[in-house]
Amino acid sequence: MSETQKREIVCSGIRPTGNLHLGNYFGALRNFVKMQDEKECYFFIADYHSLTTHPTPDNLYGNARQILVQYLACGLDPDKATLYLQSDLPETIELYLFFNMNAYLGELERVTSFKDKVRQNPNNVNAGLLTYPTLMAADILIHKATKVPVGKDQEQHLEMTRTFAQRFNNMYHSEVFPLPQAFNFGSELVKIPGLDGSGKMGKSEGEGNAIFLNEEDGSIRKKIMRAKTDSGPTEMNQQKPVEIENLFTLMKVVSTPDTVEYFNDLYNRCQIRYGDMKKQLAEDMIKFVTPFRQRINELASNEEYLRRVMNQGKEKAHESARKTIDEVRHVIGYRN
Ligand code: TYM
Repeated sequence: MSETQKREIVCSGIRPTGNLHLGNYFGALRNFVKMQDEKECYFFIADYHSLTTHPTPDNLYGNARQILVQYLACGLDPDKATLYLQSDLPETIELYLFFNMNAYLGELERVTSFKDKVRQNPNNVNAGLLTYPTLMAADILIHKATKVPVGKDQEQHLEMTRTFAQRFNNMYHSEVFPLPQAFNFGSELVKIPGLDGSGKMGKSEGEGNAIFLNEEDGSIRKKIMRAKTDSGPTEMNQQKPVEIENLFTLMKVVSTPDTVEYFNDLYNRCQIRYGDMKKQLAEDMIKFVTPFRQRINELASNEEYLRRVMNQGKEKAHESARKTIDEVRHVIGYRN
């Protein structure tokens, strides 16, 4: 690439609300790692966003630091990608304020993730939760990113990011912001299912639902053996119920195609024994997770290195954010 050709800008983040699981890995992190070689990448830890649902965390910095460890353990390189804490970049908050001025109550109330959170926790419907999408738009647009590697659950937030970007451009007769797209290396965004037979793998969907990147072998075996199944197929080639489809989806991401084919074939011939399939899945899962767990354990105690990475990221992120916020203030009409 020539000096004058600008690299595409990529940005994404993960909330420090628990250890990372296979959903986070396949929906987001795996893409982060692939993109860092070719694109200008900003990957942060969304420690402001975490307050929308966890307002008084026990150890906010410790949780954020643990996500950084997991970013590094998955192969993110601080010399290739800018890795930083959201709370180290106050320019984001200034942009959030500007987006909030032009975001409407009706559109924010219609966001699916907001409605879900209201249902789950009706006693904590705070303004941060309502304006979650404007903060997310600010995270992305502060670097003028055009590609945002995320899982399927974030699609609507990306749509809103484009709405806020376009609205800002129109209101201030400018071309400050690009219109970013959600991204995954396959052609479609992914949704990794949980082990409880319904919905997605998630940090807050109950202990047995997710497999974490630092999970011990015994615990992986236990969770998979307990995963929900049915009493087995009764007709050849019958459609799989959702909990069985989920097990196959998990198998597709960690096992070889031959293995998936083997069990699929048994299913179609009504000869599958779920116990055997789960045993195989557990062993393949353990093989997949073990190197991550080892690297996480190695990195976790290297406090000095982690601080250095965070400081380096903060500086680089600040440089990019400052340019955008100066331009934004200028087009709105503030003194720079
Ligand atoms: P969070 O912390 O809930 O999840 C982080 C990333 O993991 C993806 N993900 C999944 N992908 C596939 N299958 C699953 N089961 C699964 N579970 C989680 C999510 O799609 C996400 O990509 N709002 C974001 C954090 C954020 C952000 C941003 C992301 C804040 N600002 C700006 C991108 C750009 C969130 O809650 O992610």
